[in-house]
Amino acid sequence: MDRFSTERLIAERLNEGHLTDLVALHLDPDVSRYLGGVRSADVTKVYVATNMTHWDRHGFGLWALRTKDGAFAGRAGIRHIPVDGVDEIEIAYTFKRNHWGQGLASEIATALTDIGLSQLQLPSVIGLVSVEHVASRRVLEKAGYALEKHTAHHGEDVVIYRIRR
Ligand SMILES: CC(C)(COP(=O)(O)OP(=O)(O)OC[C@H]1O[C@@H](n2cnc3c(N)ncnc32)[C@H](O)[C@@H]1OP(=O)(O)O)[C@@H](O)C(=O)NCCC(=O)NCCS
Repeated sequence: MDRFSTERLIAERLNEGHLTDLVALHLDPDVSRYLGGVRSADVTKVYVATNMTHWDRHGFGLWALRTKDGAFAGRAGIRHIPVDGVDEIEIAYTFKRNHWGQGLASEIATALTDIGLSQLQLPSVIGLVSVEHVASRRVLEKAGYALEKHTAHHGEDVVIYRIRR
C-alpha cells in the first residue's frame, strides 16, 4: 500500500520529503480554489504531519503522485472525514495545473476507489465536492459514484457522492 502505480502515475506514501512540492502546490490559487484557498508553508507543514499521522493510525492515507518520468504531479488519497457527525471515508485528488485535462484525476479516482472497496473492504467510499466544482463532480460520476445529498461543510455548500461495495 505504501506504493502503487496506475497506467501513468506512481503513488508514494506521504512523507516529509514531499513537503516542498506540496507547499508549491497549495500556493497555487487555481489549484486551491475549491480547497479552502491558498495555504501558507506553515499550514502545509502541519497538513503533512497530520496526514502522516493518519497513515500511522489507519494504514492508509495520502500518496504523493509522480508521472512515470519522476516529476511531481500532485497528491491523492483515502481518508477519514466527519460529515454531518458521521465518520466517513473519502477519496481526494489534486493535481498541478499543468496536469489538468488529461484524465489523470479520473485515472487515480478509479484506483483509489478500487483500493477502498476491494483491498480495504470498506462498505462504501464518498467524494465531497463544492457544489459548483463541475470538474471534480464529473470525476466522481465517471468513477461510478452516485449523488447522495447536499450539505454544508466548513460553511461551504458541498455535495456528497457515494459508491458502495
Ligand atoms: C478537479 C481536478 C482534480 C480534475 O483533474 P483532471 O485530471 O483535469 O480531470 P480529468 O481530466 O480526469 O477530467 C474529468 C472530467 O471533468 C471534465 N472537466 C475537466 N475540467 C472541467 C471544467 N473546468 N468544467 C467542466 N468539466 C471539466 C473533463 O472533461 C472530464 O470529463 P469527460 O471525460 O466527460 O470529458 C483538477 O482540476 C485539480 O486538481 N483541481 C485542483 C484541486 C481540486 O479541486 N481537487 C478536487 C477537490 S474535490
